[in-house]
Amino acid sequence: MFKFQNIYIVYIFLTNICWGQDDFLQTKPDYLQTCKLADPEFTKCSTKTVQQLFTLLVEGIEEVKNLLPSIDPLSIDEIRLLQGNGPVSINATLTDVTVRGFDKVKVIESQVNSKDFSWITTLFLPKMRIDAQYDLKGKILIIPLVGHGSLWLEPVNMRVVMNAKTRLYEKGGHTFYNVTETKIDYELTGLKLRLNNLFDGLKALEESTNKFMNDNWKLASDSLKPIIAKTIEDIMLDLLQKVFHFLPADYIVTDIPKPRDVYGQDY
Ligand SMILES: *[C@@H]1O[C@H](CO)[C@@H](O)[C@H](O)[C@H]1NC(C)=O
Ligand SMILES: *[C@@H]1O[C@H](CO)[C@@H](O)[C@H](O)[C@H]1NC(C)=O
Repeated sequence: MFKFQNIYIVYIFLTNICWGQDDFLQTKPDYLQTCKLADPEFTKCSTKTVQQLFTLLVEGIEEVKNLLPSIDPLSIDEIRLLQGNGPVSINATLTDVTVRGFDKVKVIESQVNSKDFSWITTLFLPKMRIDAQYDLKGKILIIPLVGHGSLWLEPVNMRVVMNAKTRLYEKGGHTFYNVTETKIDYELTGLKLRLNNLFDGLKALEESTNKFMNDNWKLASDSLKPIIAKTIEDIMLDLLQKVFHFLPADYIVTDIPKPRDVYGQDY
């Protein structure tokens, strides 16, 4: 995956989930509740279904464990972050990234727009834990940061609002979502972090810098927000594309229209 934007670039290498475009879930899992767009209580129903979907993704689907492994922990081979000059500049590579905490996700609300089938999804993640190897050169809150080693991050009470755009398509007689864009905004109430081997082992400086970043986590987190949001957007896009190329949309929304009824003959 390759993305380029003015200020920052994020490259994500996800190998955790891989399957062919043509594979899809042939039978609807019983425990997934279906909803009807025409139902005035659709959002309530859909919120429950998306919660069930997360449970499914965390547990993995037994019959297709090799196609749909658990997302908790979620493994990412490599994330490259590059953000240009300004108060924050970063050139970092994270490898062997493990993200834990999706098992505790609470779906606050899942709205689906019945005209363009875009989504607004609000999630609450009480406790996340990210472990990785890092290689970093940059400047955050005017502190120069250089080092490589292991790191961990623990965001607390993360509330994420995701806007996703989709385009419907047909495969094997079913309607599917093609997730084409994700936009993320988030807030958190705390962040603990630790970068080991900062400044290549200058212990006193490593300790004081880690302490400073934890004491000033809000400032550090705010200054890194654009690049973190972009990273989450790219991971979510990749994940949602894979999940929804696999899971027919009509398993969860029974009255989702056929693509040709939405976009016309030449959809
Ligand atoms: C970022 O770091 C890598 C590895 O140290 C280096 O090859 C690359 O040139 C750097 N990029 C920029 C824009 O500084
Ligand atoms: C999904 O959308 C992308 C980007 O718009 C497009 O390249 C891709 O072919 C679409 N996939 C399907 C299966 O429609």
